[in-house]
Amino acid sequence: MTLPKIAIVIGTTRPSRFADKPANWIMEMAARRRDAEFEIVDLRDFDLPLFAEKRAPIYSPPEHPVAVAFSERMKAFDGFIFITAEYNHSISGALKNALDYLYSEMTRKPAACVAYGGVGGARAVEHLRLIAVELQMAPVRSAVHIGLFELRALLRDGSFDDYPYLGTAAETMLDDVVWWSRTLKAGRAD
Ligand SMILES: Cc1cc2nc3c(=O)[nH]c(=O)nc-3n(C[C@H](O)[C@H](O)[C@H](O)COP(=O)(O)O)c2cc1C
Repeated sequence: MTLPKIAIVIGTTRPSRFADKPANWIMEMAARRRDAEFEIVDLRDFDLPLFAEKRAPIYSPPEHPVAVAFSERMKAFDGFIFITAEYNHSISGALKNALDYLYSEMTRKPAACVAYGGVGGARAVEHLRLIAVELQMAPVRSAVHIGLFELRALLRDGSFDDYPYLGTAAETMLDDVVWWSRTLKAGRAD
């Protein structure tokens, strides 16, 4: 079997977002692995309008040209790591809107999270897991939670190297999402 392909999805889009830091950090760790291939998917690269399709994607694929391109991009992956902020105790509107465009692209594929916020983005992760289930994804238990203390330091000039427990959590999450990506890829091929 070819190596599973895993997307690292940047889930916020505002100009001064923090999201790039954790996305690049995870990408660096992931790129050292030999058991999967990883690519960053940046929602900024897809100027998706607020969802206005005729039908929900569970019934028919999206028609808007940007949504078609986004669907094609996401379809190519076997697993997903969402870099998610917590916006009002949930994920960003941009990420929810993007997920609303998808269905078959995501089904029977794992969803893992790297989250940040006051309580490590925990409430956003819980919401994202519920959304993932509706897309028939398999939410992965292990996640990286970057809490307020680390977030504040990293927003200044802090480095992830200062917080080795985040690196440990990231390795566990990567192990899990690779296992699920490989296993479900084989299952989908049956
Ligand atoms: C609209 C909005 C709502 C937010 N709500 C929460 C929240 O409910 N809980 C939390 O921990 N942080 C909250 N924050 C703080 C964000 O976690 C923090 O600003 C983070 O850097 C945002 O991610 P981004 O920089 O990638 O956009 C909120 C930020 C914004 C912009």
